[in-house]
Amino acid sequence: MNSMPTDQAKVNRSPQENLRQALRFAEAGHSLMEAETLFGFPRNDLEQHLIQAKARQALIRQHLQSRPRLTSLLRYPDRGPWGASRYFGNCSGYLVVDLLDYLKPRSLFDPMEGSGTAGDVCFDFDVEYCGGDIQHGFDLLSSPLPERQFDVAFWHPPYWPGHRYSTHPNDFSSAKNIKQYLLALHAGFTRLMDCLVPGGHLALFIGDGRKQGTFYPIHTDIIQWQLLRLDAVLVKEGDHQRRAQFFRYGPTPFIPTLHEYLLIFQKENT
Ligand SMILES: C[S@@+](CC[C@H](N)C(=O)[O-])C[C@H]1O[C@@H](n2cnc3c(N)ncnc32)[C@H](O)[C@@H]1O
Repeated sequence: MNSMPTDQAKVNRSPQENLRQALRFAEAGHSLMEAETLFGFPRNDLEQHLIQAKARQALIRQHLQSRPRLTSLLRYPDRGPWGASRYFGNCSGYLVVDLLDYLKPRSLFDPMEGSGTAGDVCFDFDVEYCGGDIQHGFDLLSSPLPERQFDVAFWHPPYWPGHRYSTHPNDFSSAKNIKQYLLALHAGFTRLMDCLVPGGHLALFIGDGRKQGTFYPIHTDIIQWQLLRLDAVLVKEGDHQRRAQFFRYGPTPFIPTLHEYLLIFQKENT
């Protein structure tokens, strides 16, 4: 049975989270008509979403039964039906599935939720979810943080250099140089530590950068800060065909990076 989210108090709720709330309400035994009246979603849409959620849960069971044991090398045939494939920089839902299956959290906070991939997977796992994004009015660097702490923070910031998500000055994708970007990452990391329960995990999904011939191993910088104990480093193989089309091969030869990192940190259990 899906529970109601416990803390969106300080984080504006995204349209997806409103929908998830309506679905949880219906799953808790209320009629679709009641859910329609309370949340404003047509009952036919709610019914469709409930059917889709059942199909996703079947996919999760299939994935967990058929995949080999979780190792440091992650590879998925596709991203699955969670979040939105058309959202720039969206991540694979299977990555979040594997993370939740491994850590077995009761609650998760995603401060840069984008299309809401982690939120969708949490719904299917019955994990309490709180998410925000600068595009829904939550700025990890300056907004008040949720009043409660979470078992897991799943953090998938914009990569640098990369797609510009918004013109907000604190949008990580607005960083003018690597120094500014790393400063923002460091500040965001520190704030997220406060959002974790003792013994909680911060799972940071990140790629390295390259600009004007120079390679920036961003994941190593983060590890070297030693802000939390490093639990594991997983490497996710990229979607080669889809990503390769975005590489611009100029006069300088370089080796395209086709992998990302999932850095799993743990907060002291004190
Ligand atoms: C790589 S995307 C996350 C994609 C997401 N995991 C998904 O599957 O759709 C990074 C997100 O960070 C958001 N963002 C950038 N700076 C932010 C900030 N200071 N606070 C909160 N969100 C921010 C962007 O709007 C963008 O949606």
